[in-house]
Amino acid sequence: MPSTMQELQRRRAEARAGGGEKRLAAQHAKGKLTARERLDVLLDEGSFEELDMFVEHNCVDFGMPDQVVPGDGVVTGSGTINGRLVFVFSQDFTVFGGSLSERHAQKICKIMDMAMKVGAPVIGLNDSGGARIQEGVASLGGYAEVFQRNVLASGVVPQLSLIMGPCAGGAVYSPAMTDFIFMVKDSSYMFVTGPDVVKTVTNEVVSQEALGGAVTHTTKSSVADIAFENDIEALLAARDFIDFLPVSNRAELPERPTADPWDRIEPSLDTLIPPSANQPYDMHEAVRKVLDEGDFFEVQPAHAGNILIGFGRIEGRTVGVVANQPMVLAGCLDINSSKKGARFVRFCDAFDIPIVTFVDVPGFLPGVGQEHNGIIKHGAKLLFAYAEATVPKITVITRKAYGGAYDVMASKHLRGDLNYAWPTAEIAVMGAKGAVEIIFRGKTPEEIAERTAEYEARFANPFVAASKGFIDEVIQPHSTRRRIALGLRKLRGKALENPWKKHDNIPL
Ligand code: COA
Repeated sequence: MPSTMQELQRRRAEARAGGGEKRLAAQHAKGKLTARERLDVLLDEGSFEELDMFVEHNCVDFGMPDQVVPGDGVVTGSGTINGRLVFVFSQDFTVFGGSLSERHAQKICKIMDMAMKVGAPVIGLNDSGGARIQEGVASLGGYAEVFQRNVLASGVVPQLSLIMGPCAGGAVYSPAMTDFIFMVKDSSYMFVTGPDVVKTVTNEVVSQEALGGAVTHTTKSSVADIAFENDIEALLAARDFIDFLPVSNRAELPERPTADPWDRIEPSLDTLIPPSANQPYDMHEAVRKVLDEGDFFEVQPAHAGNILIGFGRIEGRTVGVVANQPMVLAGCLDINSSKKGARFVRFCDAFDIPIVTFVDVPGFLPGVGQEHNGIIKHGAKLLFAYAEATVPKITVITRKAYGGAYDVMASKHLRGDLNYAWPTAEIAVMGAKGAVEIIFRGKTPEEIAERTAEYEARFANPFVAASKGFIDEVIQPHSTRRRIALGLRKLRGKALENPWKKHDNIPL
């Protein structure tokens, strides 16, 4: 072998060795994969093409010239997931703790720029001690260069972050601006300031995991979308997840062959709604029975369970699903569910993913806490998101659609394209008893009961709304999949534009 080739091989081996055997073993001992092993799981076998393997840091302080590791703590490049192109970076904790130097940031920026040019998703595997302390402001500048690109890429190419180790301080804001965040339980955490600083400033004693671990962020804060048990589970889920998404806002929806008949009849849906209006049922069942092969990739499953969001397919093509869940808070909209739904609707709209909405909503959640924490502003987010969305919108009201929440949930009035109702739908300003107690205040209980029955007969059905054209058709629950499939076919050519504006001013 010529000596130049030998030199290349020697240098490649050196770069691949990262921070050395001891540190690689320490990484494994923590239950974590290394940066390169993670890419092996994430990408199709043999598809990874590395860039910038020989990039080195440019720091001359603190003895750094003697500590040079080719690649500088991040592995970057492109590969495929089930044959579709993605750009990736994977921070290597074994090299300076995966900390971000100026050059490390430049490597990330390079693949982000390429992803934007060609229109392909960016997946970031984060495992980093934050800004490279030896570099000071050069490293902070590096972060800002990445942030700027996150913002410009938002709505242009999908951005997915996997947090697989530390992510603290300024480092959190790059993932925070990506579309979705997956975390790994017990080995990853995100916080702006860690437990020690928190203790000094506020005297609160809290563990890393409780402050910013995967469970905290996927249940309480909603900073992250899904928590996984380990690296492999998270990476394999990322593969499935990317399969649902178009590669850019200019690309077609991905299509995958399905053996599930488009007109599959689902008789069990005819009896899904319980006899009593106050009895809950699991909306997952309606969602799963309508989607191809029952495959629903739920996003934020552990936060604001009163609304379900996630991806599925109909006739092999991706749809975004939003659904009220009667099993949690009776399906009421509150602050958290409004925010959760709104961001998802906007993601779907940005990437031309049709939205299928299942409605069973008794209204907005009452309460001093809700009002004082701004349900007006946060509820408006969901309303705003649905109203501005120009993608195909199909709505199915299964049971309650009461009050302002009826309007919000992709109603006809917000440019819903096809608004269906099951015969069990109740579309009204509010529940019959509450309504009658207001209009007939002071009447005897017998009169109230009589009037309630009258109100129910008048409004606890879909036909008043259908008579006004607010519901396009009252459909049989068992044929919901067929109706949605036909609807989506019809709407493939949908062209709708909002008036020109620099950008809107959604209530934040
Ligand atoms: N800059 C430079 N080097 C860093 C670093 C940083 N921000 N963070 C970690 N490292 C290095 C460590 O010096 C250590 O090097 P070594 O292997 O040569 O000894 C290596 O990365 C591993 O770090 P270590 O502290 O041993 O790992 P840990 O798992 O015990 O702790 C952290 C991980 C992230 C909690 C800890 O390293 C830390 O607090 N880092 C600093 C975080 C920070 O303040 N960042 C700057 C602000 S954003």
